[in-house]
Amino acid sequence: MAGDTGEGALWGGRFSQGPSPEMVALGQSTGFDWVLAGYDLTGSIAHAHALEKAGYLTASEAATLVTELHAVKEQVEQGLIVPQASDEDVHGALERILVENLGAELGGKLRAGRSRNDQIATLIRMYLRDQVAHVSELLLAVVDALATLAAAHPNAPMPGRTHLQHAQPILFSHHLLAHAWPLLRDVDRFAHLRTRLSLSPYGAGALAGSTLGLDSQAIAQELGFEAPMANSIDATSSRDVIAEALYVCAQVGVDTSRLAEDLILWSTAEFGYITLDDAFSTGSSIMPQKKNPDIAELARGKSGRLLGNLTGLMATLKGLPLAYNRDLQEDKEPLFDSMNTLGLVLPALRGLLDTLGVNEQALAARATDGFSLATDIAEWLVQQGMSFREAHEVSGRAVAMCEQRGIDLQDLSGEDLASLSPVLTVEMIQGLSVESALDARSGVGGTAPSAVAAQHEALRAQMKVLRAALAS
Ligand code: ARG
Repeated sequence: MAGDTGEGALWGGRFSQGPSPEMVALGQSTGFDWVLAGYDLTGSIAHAHALEKAGYLTASEAATLVTELHAVKEQVEQGLIVPQASDEDVHGALERILVENLGAELGGKLRAGRSRNDQIATLIRMYLRDQVAHVSELLLAVVDALATLAAAHPNAPMPGRTHLQHAQPILFSHHLLAHAWPLLRDVDRFAHLRTRLSLSPYGAGALAGSTLGLDSQAIAQELGFEAPMANSIDATSSRDVIAEALYVCAQVGVDTSRLAEDLILWSTAEFGYITLDDAFSTGSSIMPQKKNPDIAELARGKSGRLLGNLTGLMATLKGLPLAYNRDLQEDKEPLFDSMNTLGLVLPALRGLLDTLGVNEQALAARATDGFSLATDIAEWLVQQGMSFREAHEVSGRAVAMCEQRGIDLQDLSGEDLASLSPVLTVEMIQGLSVESALDARSGVGGTAPSAVAAQHEALRAQMKVLRAALAS
């Protein structure tokens, strides 16, 4: 085949022999880029229309090509067409099929005015556009599950922690919504990425455009983009939108791993806050009694590969000269992997949340452990006119007194209180409770039932806004 285009390849004329098996093995991408076949064919249909409009295909040639491309697309979707061992990449495989079905004369015309470089940059954006919509839906479902769980236990108190130590009482619903908001921001990040995904690299050719005068604005619009990219070199050599998507995926991984960590802790015997549904947990091969939170652990574990995919691509892109380099072929596997990973993790996490049981008693039992109402004493003293610096000391001494005697703040007598500060009263100390501590924190974002109900409404409203943005 010296001097010919290689079978399943798109080049060959200047070569005296075909590529070595080692070259083929290293360069072949059909093992992963076949995912883009449908987008490649959609792009080819738009390209055929542009070639016809510019006079490079007759109306009947274009019609034959477009009909064939639609037929191949259907067969690809049904899995009836798969790449052959000789195909270099998805583009080569699809041209081979076209040439086989329509002959080399017509099948060979479609490649005019485009390059795999502008093609692949366009296809990956089309793929990403669909995945962003899909993964955003999955994210919204997890957010919805968290909000629904919160609404089912609106007033259940629990210990709030900082440094993992008991800090102040909070509502369980407040804590759940604290996991929902970051995930909603991730949806927002995906929604904003769509603006940058709205420009098409098609028409950029190998790097400098084409001499054929094809209407790249029309191609862009046919493919669902707003316009062609402004710079053909940038269009073929940049992958920052892929990196940005991988960042959002990595951030989702970080956010879900923190939720997962809570669920894992909460399902231990020591916490006993939640019980996992049998269908969303696993057993042990040796310990018959075990019920393990594997979904949460896998969500936590897979965040590692999501981070790895981002850093791997960034390392590939760093220092690459303009314009296209074959290194850029390495953008696809991390992107596909991150999207597929979230496609597995998010529905499982959602199911786990939908089905878990909540033990409100266990949550409430420890809400005042660790003198978690000490801040309320200090703030009450401030309301009586004391400086916070002094109030902090008085309350701290009360805690020390209790700790020494092994009693609670409410057990301090009038005499004890008088020895700590003349301002302290028995009524105030007796009035301390989880309920009053919660109710008092009614400012925006606070843990009072009224404030949590308000933020639940705000979350639902924001979900609606993002749903509408994604649907537009
Ligand atoms: N498989 C290649 C990629 O993923 C397609 C573009 C190849 N272009 C080239 N000039 N070899 O980037």
